[in-house]
Amino acid sequence: MGEIICNKFITLKHDIEGAPKEEDFEVITTNISISSIVKQGSNIVLVKCLDVSIDPYQVNRMKSYSPSQNSIIPASKLVHGEEIDGNGIGKVVVSGHPEFRKDDLVTGRLSWAQYVVVEDVKLLRKLYAMGFPLSYHLGILGVSGLTAYAGLFKLGKPKKGERIFVSTASGSVGNLVGQYAKLFGCYVIGCAGTTDKVALLKEKLGFDDAFNYKEESDLKVALQRYFPEGIDIYFDNVGGEMLEAAVANMNTYGRVIICGVISEYTDPKRRAAPDMINVIYKRITIQGFLVSDYKDEDNFTEFVSTTSKYLNAGQIQVLEDISIGVESIPSAFVGLFCGRNVGKTIVKIADD
Ligand SMILES: NC(=O)c1ccc[n+]([C@@H]2O[C@H](COP(=O)([O-])OP(=O)(O)OC[C@H]3O[C@@H](n4cnc5c(N)ncnc54)[C@H](OP(=O)(O)O)[C@@H]3O)[C@@H](O)[C@H]2O)c1
Repeated sequence: MGEIICNKFITLKHDIEGAPKEEDFEVITTNISISSIVKQGSNIVLVKCLDVSIDPYQVNRMKSYSPSQNSIIPASKLVHGEEIDGNGIGKVVVSGHPEFRKDDLVTGRLSWAQYVVVEDVKLLRKLYAMGFPLSYHLGILGVSGLTAYAGLFKLGKPKKGERIFVSTASGSVGNLVGQYAKLFGCYVIGCAGTTDKVALLKEKLGFDDAFNYKEESDLKVALQRYFPEGIDIYFDNVGGEMLEAAVANMNTYGRVIICGVISEYTDPKRRAAPDMINVIYKRITIQGFLVSDYKDEDNFTEFVSTTSKYLNAGQIQVLEDISIGVESIPSAFVGLFCGRNVGKTIVKIADD
């Protein structure tokens, strides 16, 4: 291999306040001079990106301001013209760090790019594929799976037979929440934005029922119809009116898990205003969480061991939405906000 690698990466042209459009991004081509960057003892690692995770939270980094930008480092504001860091799986091309060698598979903080120079190797860990496709380690065995697992079991603390409602139920996190809850012995209903997605939930993923929220004129009434005995756990991925409707239909001591509020990310005027009198008199717990709180070894090992057993037994379905090539990243990202994806959105940058 020569000393210079040609690299393409995606960057943001300007701040975004509403829904993202493909024109908000551009592809930049640069050269990476290997010998001047990755010297022995430099502790820097050059990684070839193989699969990149495309996630809704990134839109909050693209705004002029979002409270999330001052929370954790992966949520920090993006700088126009610079690389967009994000989760991914890659292969080490050259390493100046003793713990990483050429051809090691790694996962962690990579970039929306073909190659990335990683200066802080604490953001990477070696990946052992365990016989599963690499992409699983971004979705079902990665951050999406851990989000679903930790949100449902650690916060929701379900009991067998409880009634669970999941929004964005055919998405990356939502489909797994529903499948875990069914495997655990709960009654599960999900909502999604198309007829095909609803059919998938009922026919392939084993949800007890599902509905298209876009066809409902009154979400409170719809949830009364689907949950005549009330909701015990609501796993919220969308916020807005759906959150208000779910709170109105919760049972006493119900748990509302706030995982994401995607309907509010791209509409600054949309904010859920649940009736707090319900929260008081039904003693409802509403709790937000970040998956990063559950990445410690104990939680991660429990999650991977449970999920890999389900996978090996053929008890859990894998939904992936994969597009090819770094140039397809803007389209894949924009697709999240108009419901184009089914399951985990991934862009395959290169083959292993
Ligand atoms: N707390 C955490 O640590 C954490 C970690 C990961 C993800 N999250 C959050 O979890 C949620 C799901 O993430 P994901 O990665 O699984 O994404 P996803 O559900 O795979 O993809 C986004 C989906 O959101 C729905 N959507 C888009 N715009 C919407 C709108 N205005 N109103 C209602 N639904 C809309 C669409 O599905 P439909 O066709 O059904 O509308 C779309 O397919 C997001 O809010 C995300 O930010 C949180």
